[in-house]
Amino acid sequence: MKERIVSGMRPTGKLHLGHYLGVIQNWVELQHKYESFFFVADWHALTTKYDKTENLKNDVIDVAIDWLASGIDPEISTIYVQSLVPEIAELNIYLGMVTPQNWVERDPTLKDMAKILRSKEGQNSQISYGLMGYPVLMSADIMMMNATHVPVGIDQVAHIEITRDIARRFNNLYKEEFFNEPKPILNHCSLICGLDGNKMGKSFQNDIKISDTEEITAKKIMTAITDRSRLRKTDLGHPDECEVAFKYWQIFGNEEQIAQIRCECEKGERGCADCKRQLGAVINERFAEIREKRRYYESHIDEVKDILNDGSKRARVEAQKVLNEVKRLVRMY
Ligand code: TRP
Ligand code: SF4
Repeated sequence: MKERIVSGMRPTGKLHLGHYLGVIQNWVELQHKYESFFFVADWHALTTKYDKTENLKNDVIDVAIDWLASGIDPEISTIYVQSLVPEIAELNIYLGMVTPQNWVERDPTLKDMAKILRSKEGQNSQISYGLMGYPVLMSADIMMMNATHVPVGIDQVAHIEITRDIARRFNNLYKEEFFNEPKPILNHCSLICGLDGNKMGKSFQNDIKISDTEEITAKKIMTAITDRSRLRKTDLGHPDECEVAFKYWQIFGNEEQIAQIRCECEKGERGCADCKRQLGAVINERFAEIREKRRYYESHIDEVKDILNDGSKRARVEAQKVLNEVKRLVRMY
């Protein structure tokens, strides 16, 4: 039997290259090795944005389109929407009962989320009961499919630790080795920073979207930070201090290109504007096929909705099997 992975993303709207390189690319490879379940975590979006739901539906579809365009194959993987699998909410209740409160209170990722929320909304912003339950709901997502592995970014590993603890505790309490203790799969790709050198993020306006046109991508790349000490094209450059542009070259260029750029930059034979123009072209080439596929799905939204509905139906079949076992083990009526 193939091992199983589950992973999800909150519907934050159109995804950027950080999502692509950090997560999606990894999923695309893993789907051939594992039985794969990928879902849009729309309930998790509500943990912090319950009061901003006007774009939620569209955001779910946008995320799904980016996945499909990037090569998540609905024939191989099950792609679904969290809220279309109500069994997850039911499992969340059982898991919540057996989870000690201090396990969620000391979750570092949750503490960070709470901090960000407070800095955005002011001191008196309240943390909801739902947000406190974030790691339990996430455990329900994962355990719903009784996954063996969870491919995530490093920031999510603390949550997965709680999932493992909950799985172990459930098995101990109800005296059966029913749930797997899922292991995180970290991807080894280097993190891509934003155009300004900070973490790439939608809210920092320093991102390049998968869905950006070639023109917009090229324009954005021209704003990427370079070697700040360099004023003229003939000044000797320092690629290792070229904060963003050279880092992007190291991600998107081939070895030969990288070596050539380093050499020309150091000798003062390469201007930053030309260098970034060329970089933009390389990135556009890399995403050309994905963007073309994206345009296809954008004009076939009904097809995307069908994929999500079918996937959710398939996910429910698996979810019901697990839920029946859970109810049997807990000895529910
Ligand atoms: N918390 C994850 C994130 O913010 C999204 C998520 C929700 C998830 N449920 C999950 C990821 C289950 C993996 C497995 O990126
Ligand atoms: Fe960076 Fe290229 Fe300018 Fe060198 S020439 S500093 S690598 S942008």
